Amino acid sequence: MAARDLAKYILPRRVYEHLRWERQLIGCSGFGAKSLEKTYRSILHEIDAKALDRLRTQVRSDYERDPKSAAKYPDHAFWLRSAIVQAARAGLHAGPSRRILDLGCGPGYFLAVCRHFGHEALGIDIPENFFSDIERLVYDQMFYAHRCKKQSLLIRPYEALAVDGTFDLISAFLVCFNNHKRSDEWSRAEWEFFLDDALSHLRPGGRLYLGLNNNAARYGAMTWYDAPTKTLFSERGNVKGSTVVVERPA
Ligand SMILES: C[S@@+](CC[C@H](N)C(=O)[O-])C[C@H]1O[C@@H](n2cnc3c(N)ncnc32)[C@H](O)[C@@H]1O
Repeated sequence: MAARDLAKYILPRRVYEHLRWERQLIGCSGFGAKSLEKTYRSILHEIDAKALDRLRTQVRSDYERDPKSAAKYPDHAFWLRSAIVQAARAGLHAGPSRRILDLGCGPGYFLAVCRHFGHEALGIDIPENFFSDIERLVYDQMFYAHRCKKQSLLIRPYEALAVDGTFDLISAFLVCFNNHKRSDEWSRAEWEFFLDDALSHLRPGGRLYLGLNNNAARYGAMTWYDAPTKTLFSERGNVKGSTVVVERPA
């Protein structure tokens, strides 16, 4: 058993959780597990956390039936902390106010975190009629609780993003718009079109920040992409595991 797995069983749960978040925050310039807790508590006061708790009770049986469905999202103890970690890793806990576009924003945690850190954030997600019943219920109620802004837009291969203006950051976490886990999951050519288009929506010096979704069944040890796609990401920016960062030259 790996030391990390062993720690889960021998350490008190609180200590284990603290160390797990701390590890994820390595390199976040002064933002560690204590800052995470402080930020988490503050954001709970800014959103309607009670509505999320009620929703969690409402969808408990959906969650038990399918723990990977959208019914998992009202668990803010995990998902809000994850979004804070994502924001800190993208450097959003410090520095000037930025204009952010979050693709595939789902329940809107990341948008709520961006607002907390003083940024202006807009979410993009598929139109309502594409949602499953549980996604519609959870995403609608959570968006209301988070009081965030969203535009409906279906991202398709080889189609430019129909969004107005330019952004300092375009983000996407647990990316699914690449037809994730479908037989037509994007390959290098679709990603190349997407990167060119996304960069055209960035201000000079702006960044595209992607957190790719695991598809080890398709990619084996490479987990998130095939070799040509990884080469593209490396040619255009930095790729480290699931994270791809591409900058528009200033
Ligand atoms: C796994 S969820 C991730 C949600 C959120 N980013 C997070 O990190 O928790 C993927 C999101 O992408 C959205 N999505 C999937 N396909 C899309 C597409 N073609 N265009 C826009 N959004 C899409 C889904 O509706 C869902 O909200």
